[in-house]
Amino acid sequence: MSTVKIAPSLLAANFACLGEEIKAIEPFADMIHLDVMDGHFVPNLTFGPLFIKALRSYTSLPFDVHLMVTCPDNYLTEFAQAGANIITVHLETCENLPETLQKIRELGCKAGLALKPDTPAETLSPFLHLVDLILVMTVEPGFGGQSFLTDQIKKIQDVRALVAHSDYSIVIEVDGGISPINAPAVIEAGADIIVVGTAAFKGDPSHYAENIEALRH
Ligand code: DX5
Ligand code: ZN
Repeated sequence: MSTVKIAPSLLAANFACLGEEIKAIEPFADMIHLDVMDGHFVPNLTFGPLFIKALRSYTSLPFDVHLMVTCPDNYLTEFAQAGANIITVHLETCENLPETLQKIRELGCKAGLALKPDTPAETLSPFLHLVDLILVMTVEPGFGGQSFLTDQIKKIQDVRALVAHSDYSIVIEVDGGISPINAPAVIEAGADIIVVGTAAFKGDPSHYAENIEALRH
């Protein structure tokens, strides 16, 4: 059995009963992935800190908050206070990335840095001392249920090599289009955490155990 961690993305859950959805997936998950979209950095809208705060009491699993927003700096304190444990921002959007990452750590959260598919692994180099997690996107951010971009396997390997040759202990998370078919290649390439939306919440809650089991093996 692999030791990969699974982060189900609530984007694929039933929004009318998210508290129950968290309870149903919790026994099989290592953390909960929350996709925040602002309709500007990505062409879709989801939710913000108030929403995350309302869900916080449903589980003690870590909240892994993926900010797909243009100005994350304005909201970092609110997300930390809402109960985020990991806050990930996009490398493509922050004006002063070192300051943003430092602020996340000062707020007591783990700092994550995400890369869109077209952003090369080398762009991470100046920030490695400031990050706890790197998120490699394997779809264009904005929507769940998209097809996995196979060419991103090489990027996962590149990020793994970059981290291995650094002095830092950084976790690699992979997000987008992950299914039981491509999960083995993603894990083999170097993922420590896989984000899974559609493949985790497929069917009714009685299927969640087998959905996650299929990803771990
Ligand atoms: C996409 C999000 C992903 C997405 C994953 O912008 O960052 O977290 O919800 O969902 P699936 O697994 O359906 O691609
Ligand atoms: Zn995500």
